[in-house]
Amino acid sequence: MPDIRRVGVLGAGLMGSGIAEVCAKAGYEVVVREVDEKALAAGRRRIEQSLSKAIERGKLTASDGEAIRKRLRFSTSLEEFSSVGFVIEAIVENLEAKREVFKALDALCAPHAIFCSNTSSLTIAEMAAATARPDRFAGLHFFNPVPVMKLVEVVRAIGTSDETVARVTAFARSLGKEPIAARDNSGFVVNRLLVPFLLDAIRAYEQGVGSLEDVDTGMKLGCAHPMGPFELLDYVGLDTVYAIAEIMFTEYREARFAPPPLLKRMVVAGRYGRKSGRGFFEYDERGNRK
Ligand code: CAA
Ligand code: NAD
Repeated sequence: MPDIRRVGVLGAGLMGSGIAEVCAKAGYEVVVREVDEKALAAGRRRIEQSLSKAIERGKLTASDGEAIRKRLRFSTSLEEFSSVGFVIEAIVENLEAKREVFKALDALCAPHAIFCSNTSSLTIAEMAAATARPDRFAGLHFFNPVPVMKLVEVVRAIGTSDETVARVTAFARSLGKEPIAARDNSGFVVNRLLVPFLLDAIRAYEQGVGSLEDVDTGMKLGCAHPMGPFELLDYVGLDTVYAIAEIMFTEYREARFAPPPLLKRMVVAGRYGRKSGRGFFEYDERGNRK
C-alpha cells in the first residue's frame, strides 16, 4: 500500500491554510506550496492564528500545537512534492491555473500519489485530463473555516477508480471529517444549493428588498443560519464567489447561477470581502467587522 503519510497542499489562502492545518493536526507530514514568500507568510500567519485560537479555546494543548507546527513545511517550490503520497490543491478557482499545476505535478510525483482538488465548482474530470492519472484523481471539497466545519465532499469523476474513492474517503475520515459522496457536477451537492441562495440575496438587495444588515439578521434570527448571506459572501471571498458563479452559469446556463451585476462591480473594485478589508462590510486587519 503506498505511503500517504506525507501530504502536499497547494495554495495557502483561506482554504489551503486550513487544509494544511487539519492534515498536520491528524498526524500527517505536510508541505505547503505558495507562489511567493509574501503569500506563504500570510498562510503561515493564518495557521498560527487558528492554532492559537484552538489552544485558547481548549481544543488543543500547547504541546500538540507545537507538534503540529513541526509537521508543517512551507515552500515556494514544487520540488518537495516529489515525496508526497497525497496532493490537495487549493489554489485560485481558475481551470487553466489548476490544470497547469497538476500537469507539472504529474511529472514530478510518484505514480501511486493521489491527486485531489478542493475546487468549489470546476469539473474534476477536466483537471484529471491534464494528467496521466485520471484513475487516481478525485475531488475533495472542504468547507470554510476548515478546522471547524465537519463536512467534506468526496467527488468521483468519470475516470476515478473505486480504490481511489475508497482511499480519499478514508483519508477524509482520518482528518476527523464527515465525508459525503458527490458526482462531478459543477458545485457538487452543497454549492449547487448554497450558491443560488447567496446570489439571490445580492439580487434581492439590488432590488431594495432590505438593507444588508436586515437581510442578514432576517436569515440568522428567522432561519437560524449561523451567518447572514452577506456576512457569508464576505467570508467566502467575493472574487471566489464571482468565479464560482461564472463557472456554474457556464455549466448549467440557468439564470439562478448568473453573477449579479453588483457582484462583478465589487470584484473589479477589489472589494473581495473579509480577506481584502472590504466587501459588503468593512473589516480591520484581524478580519473583525468594523
Ligand atoms: N480550531 C479549532 N476549533 C475552532 C477554531 C479553530 N481555529 N476556531 C473556532 N473553533 C471552534 C470553537 O472553539 C467553537 O467550538 P465549540 O462550539 O465546541 O465551543 C466553534 O469552533 C465555533 O467557534 P466560534 O465560537 O469562534 O465561532 P462562531 O460560533 O462565531 O462560529 C463559524 C463561527 C463557525 C464561522 C460560524 O459563523 C459558521 O458556521 N458560519 C457559516 C460558515 C459556512 O457556512 N461555511 C461554508 C461556506 S461555503 C464553502 O465553504 C464552500 C465553497 O466552496 C465556497
Ligand atoms: P484564496 O484566494 O484565499 O487563496 C488562493 C491562494 O492560491 C492564493 O494565496 C494564491 O497565491 C495561491 N495560488 C495561486 N496559484 C498557485 C499555485 N500555482 N501554487 C500555489 N499557490 C497558488 O482562495 P481560497 O478561498 O482559499 O480558495 C481556494 C480554492 O478553494 C478555490 O478553488 C475555491 O473555489 C475553493 N474553496 C473556497 C472556499 C471558500 O469559502 N473560500 C470553500 C471551499 C472551496
